[in-house]
Amino acid sequence: MASPQQIVTIDGPSGVGKSTVSRAVAARLGYTYLDTGAMYRAVAWKCLQEGVSPDDEQGVARLLNDLDIRLLPPEREGDDVRVLVDGRDVSREIRTPEMAMAASRVSALGVVRQRLTRMQQEMGAAGRIVAEGRDTGTVVFPRAAWKFFLDAAPGERARRRAEQLRQRGQEVDKEEILAQIIQRDRDDRQRTIAPLRAAPDAIHIDTTNLDLDQVVDLILSHIRQK
Ligand code: DC
Repeated sequence: MASPQQIVTIDGPSGVGKSTVSRAVAARLGYTYLDTGAMYRAVAWKCLQEGVSPDDEQGVARLLNDLDIRLLPPEREGDDVRVLVDGRDVSREIRTPEMAMAASRVSALGVVRQRLTRMQQEMGAAGRIVAEGRDTGTVVFPRAAWKFFLDAAPGERARRRAEQLRQRGQEVDKEEILAQIIQRDRDDRQRTIAPLRAAPDAIHIDTTNLDLDQVVDLILSHIRQK
């Protein structure tokens, strides 16, 4: 296990801006950014590709037997990480609202969580990492030195997510995005295994009225203090 001094975890609900914040924090610290949500999306993509229901634990377990997920640095600074599934670049395909919903369903399965948690721990074993997701402070890296939990009002999160999708050239219906965010949060919080939850020692940041730079500066100031 890496020295806990070198691990930062950033968890929180969908659309709170975790990815943008985590990428910026990692860049400022010179650490590697680990997007754990991308891995759940990759499993969801594989399910849809193979016609396996994201709720079918046995079917998904079979898929996991020969599933190769790779995360690569983005082609351009500021972009999402690149994701290869069995060698195929699925970076764009996994970033749709439908894939997010499927990822949330697949993420409730114990067999998936076990496998991805282990991969994430291996990826973080060398330390100097900023891990982002739902359970990185509670389950994946419980001994991380710095843990943050970001939140924001649901309406603001829907606005941010819609803006992000629009920038990627996707059509958006704000009401639908809000409904999906609310449902995904409820499912992520209520699932039995590794639910979305702040670690008891996480620092909570309400980002509703903060911009990206303010959140990043706040996180860095906490890290520098400790
Ligand atoms: O962060 P994201 O929107 O890319 O995550 C997609 C889904 O994956 C999310 O709704 C729940 C699941 N997930 C998870 O269960 N645990 C994580 N550490 C990261 C994501």
